[in-house]
Amino acid sequence: MDAVQSPIVQVIGDLIRQVPGTISLGQGVVHYGPPREALDAACNALGDPATHEYQDGTGIPILVERLTDKLKRENGIDVARGSRLMVTAGANMAFVHAVLAITEIGDEIILPVPFYFNHEMAIDMAGCTTVRVATDEHYQLRLDAIRAAITPRTRAVVTISPNNPSGAVFGESSLREVNTLCRERGLYHITDEVYEYFTYDSARHTSPGSFAGAEAHTISMYSLSKAYGFAGWRIGYMTYPDHLASAMMKAQDTILVCAPIVSQVAAAAALEVGRQYSTPHVRELAEIRDIVLRELGSLEPLAEVPAADGAFYVLLKVNAPPRGAEPSIPMTIAERLIREHKVAVIPGPAFGMTDGCYFRVAYGALQKETVAEGIGRLIEGLRTIVGAEQLTKSSN
Ligand SMILES: Cc1ncc(COP(=O)(O)O)c(C=O)c1O
Repeated sequence: MDAVQSPIVQVIGDLIRQVPGTISLGQGVVHYGPPREALDAACNALGDPATHEYQDGTGIPILVERLTDKLKRENGIDVARGSRLMVTAGANMAFVHAVLAITEIGDEIILPVPFYFNHEMAIDMAGCTTVRVATDEHYQLRLDAIRAAITPRTRAVVTISPNNPSGAVFGESSLREVNTLCRERGLYHITDEVYEYFTYDSARHTSPGSFAGAEAHTISMYSLSKAYGFAGWRIGYMTYPDHLASAMMKAQDTILVCAPIVSQVAAAAALEVGRQYSTPHVRELAEIRDIVLRELGSLEPLAEVPAADGAFYVLLKVNAPPRGAEPSIPMTIAERLIREHKVAVIPGPAFGMTDGCYFRVAYGALQKETVAEGIGRLIEGLRTIVGAEQLTKSSN
């Protein structure tokens, strides 16, 4: 565990608690909770003795049925054609299971940078190696870099689209190239799609599991945490090739046995409400995103804000003095932003962004007015902290 990075959201959370009144643009959560129907179903389930028992590790039948239907209709994935489906306690657990199922100690997994910190942490914990590969200046995938990173020990390439932390949405052709490369080189394509509903403007979500022949090497992960405001209920799910059924079940049975039944019952009710539940929330987030992009745009040239067409993040690049590129500097600035300006963001090194000064700004958890106030504080804070340093430097 000494080699595993500390959970950054907890680290920043501790700082936030020390400074009451801090606006958090840190944690990646949504500001709404589950549909009423899910809560009613959970209440009703409390009186059913089956709720309190261990049940099948893959998931309760009604939820499996609804997820199977959703995957077919919305994602173009027909589980009956060579895949399996498993309900886990969130997509984080699905990722841990997948890494355990497909690797031996010392194997390598390719993560395009920026990556999601818990992916790297899971790979490290499994005794494997994260191989970081660069993306382009818009945080889009670079097939050449992925191809060059493959070695005899590579087991998988991970893509996250829409992306945490960059907000980038990968196009169909780009995901198809990665999926094909994985097939040709005998690798798994792990595709994290927990933000599938969160796309803006003309951006469209693509599920690589829907590509012809993908079922033999694609592991697709989803979550109710964001779409249905379900983060605390811990429900995610994944599809994976038939041949991984035994390995995945070993991981599931050892770590979880089965996802909490009451949460699964609630999830089944949420699925019945369906995607339409998130639609007004995503529309509202689109408006908040416009404010965030517009306001942060005023920081140029002190900071750059690459386009972010999905999720509810932007990855801000601060053009800090050269020593801002040292990994400790973004953390120091993040700490000063909290202590001196009462606004929290997540420093870039947690996402593998170590060649510059980056901060992830999350705008999903707050009401519009609070986000606007938080962004105002962030702008003022960065101007004061980084701008002042730059002035000092240029006058030296
Ligand atoms: C890319 C990505 N994958 C997975 C997760 C975890 O989701 P869950 O709550 O389902 O474990 C998150 C949560 O922020 C995420 O950003």
